[in-house]
This record gives sequence, C-alpha cells and structure tokens, in this order.
Amino acid sequence: MSPNEASRTALMIARQRAAHQVLDHGSILHDPFALKILGEGEQDLVQFANTHPLASIGRLFTTARARIAEDALSKAVERGIRQVVILGAGLDTFALRNPHGPQLLHIYEVDHPATQKWKRQRLAEARIAIPPCLRLVPVDFELDDIGEKLAAAGFQQNSPAFFTWLGVVPYLTHDAIGRTLDYMSSIQNSEVVFDYMESPEAFSEELRQLEAKRTEGLQRIGERSVSRFEPAGIAALLRSHGFCSIDDIEYQEIASTFGSAVQGLAPGHAGVHVVHAKQ
Ligand SMILES: C[S@@+](CC[C@H](N)C(=O)[O-])C[C@H]1O[C@@H](n2cnc3c(N)ncnc32)[C@H](O)[C@@H]1O
Repeated sequence: MSPNEASRTALMIARQRAAHQVLDHGSILHDPFALKILGEGEQDLVQFANTHPLASIGRLFTTARARIAEDALSKAVERGIRQVVILGAGLDTFALRNPHGPQLLHIYEVDHPATQKWKRQRLAEARIAIPPCLRLVPVDFELDDIGEKLAAAGFQQNSPAFFTWLGVVPYLTHDAIGRTLDYMSSIQNSEVVFDYMESPEAFSEELRQLEAKRTEGLQRIGERSVSRFEPAGIAALLRSHGFCSIDDIEYQEIASTFGSAVQGLAPGHAGVHVVHAKQ
C-alpha cells in the first residue's frame, strides 16, 4: 500500500456491502451502517453494482465471507471468547452493529494507518460515534510488530481471541502473512476467519480477464495483489503455524449457500476461498 493513501480496495468492498443492502435487501449481511459510513447515494451504488455483470459475484463473496466470519464469531462468543480483532478492517461496521451487547466484547480494529485515518474521517462526517468497546489500532503488517501495537491498545495476550482477516491476505507479502499467523497462534485458543485467492487458472475465463484488469488497475495506484495460494498450500501453511482445525470453504459452496440472495448473480467460477482455522 502507498504509505499516505487509504486503501482503494477498502472503498470498493464498502461499496459492495452498501450495494448489497440496496439491491439484495441485506439478506446475507444486514448492515444498517453500510450506506451511512460511505456517504454515497443509493443511485450511485446501483450504478457501481451495474458497472460489470460479474460485479454480482464480488457482492456475493464479500458479504458471504463477512457473514461466515460473524456466524463463527457468535459461536466463539458462546464458548466464552471476549476479544475480537478485525485485521485490515477498512470500513467494516461489525463494532457498530455488535449484536453481543456493548459490555461483553472488546473489539480491536487493526488497519493500515492511512486507511484508519480515512475511516475516522468517514465516521466523523457520518456523525457515527466510535463505541466505547472499540479500539482503533494503526498497524502496517509489512513493517510493524502487531503484538506490541495491540498490547499497547489494551489487548490481553493471555486471553483467547477471535480474529477476522477479510480481503487482506491477497495484498500482503508471504513474510507479513507468516508473521501475522505466528502472532495469532501465539494467543492461546485463538481462531481466525480469512479469505484467500487461488492463481488465475482457478477462475472461469471472463472472471480471469476481469481480475487481471482489476489487478493491473490496483498496481497502478500502489495496491499490489501479491499472494495467491492453492488449497493444499494454505492448509500446510496454517498447520506449520500451529492451526490444526481447518475448514476451507470454496466459492462453489458459498454460491450454493448464499447465491440465491444476490439479485442477478452471474454464472462463473471464482478461485476464492474462506477459511476458518482454530488451534
Ligand atoms: C480489501 S480491503 C478489506 C477491508 C475490510 N476487511 C472489508 O472486508 O471491508 C483490504 C484492507 O487491508 C488493509 N491492508 C492492506 N495492506 C495492509 C498493510 N500492509 N498493513 C495494514 N493493513 C493493510 C487495507 O488498509 C484495507 O483496509
């Protein structure tokens, strides 16, 4: 990422979440803050959603991965987990919607300093107060020690935590991914939900072309997509970092579970996966 510019992909995902409220009535992820935090009108969002027929696939995947993460988090809360860390939060609104009540959870949003600064501005402009249970922790995964930064913000390293890491892994180097996995597995009984991308061959032809264009465009603005994995590779990586329970959900399964909720879902296969890993 460019040091001083907020993530462009975070804006795209926030638009997808907001378009999902308008076009699909939030039936995968109901998010009453999605439009408000963005500050964009419904018409603009519909236009954004219609820029390409395959945009519906992005809308499905981004909302489904958040839903899968939040469902898994609810189960973790039932088991007693009280710390939530949202890595690469972008304009994620979970902390504003927190269904577990303001007293129960300590929520930490970790993001690149430039993106987090932009989020603070968006929240202020939308007149949305930062809830007392939420700490915003600026971290560059490529440069900073996430453990030090989280501890300084009050995170309890000796208590279990639930991590989400959505839409971030493809933009990090293998080094930063390894260090972040090491940190998460150093927290006893931690678990994580994240997503990853396979190599272009795993995408159907039209999607592969679209993805290549998107990657080129992002590269021009300094947001490189650098890390892709095969399912066997991600499982081996997770095991080598101490995660042994691994549930890898591929796009086809996501489409059959949630696809009917997305208006005009385009056909096609995306080489994208959501993983829920526990120690
Ligand atoms: C595609 S956005 C996803 C945002 C959010 N998780 C969501 O689903 O709406 C990618 C996020 O990763 C963050 N990110 C990318 N590279 C990073 C880095 N080196 N350090 C910290 N955050 C980074 C960006 O700031 C951005 O918030």
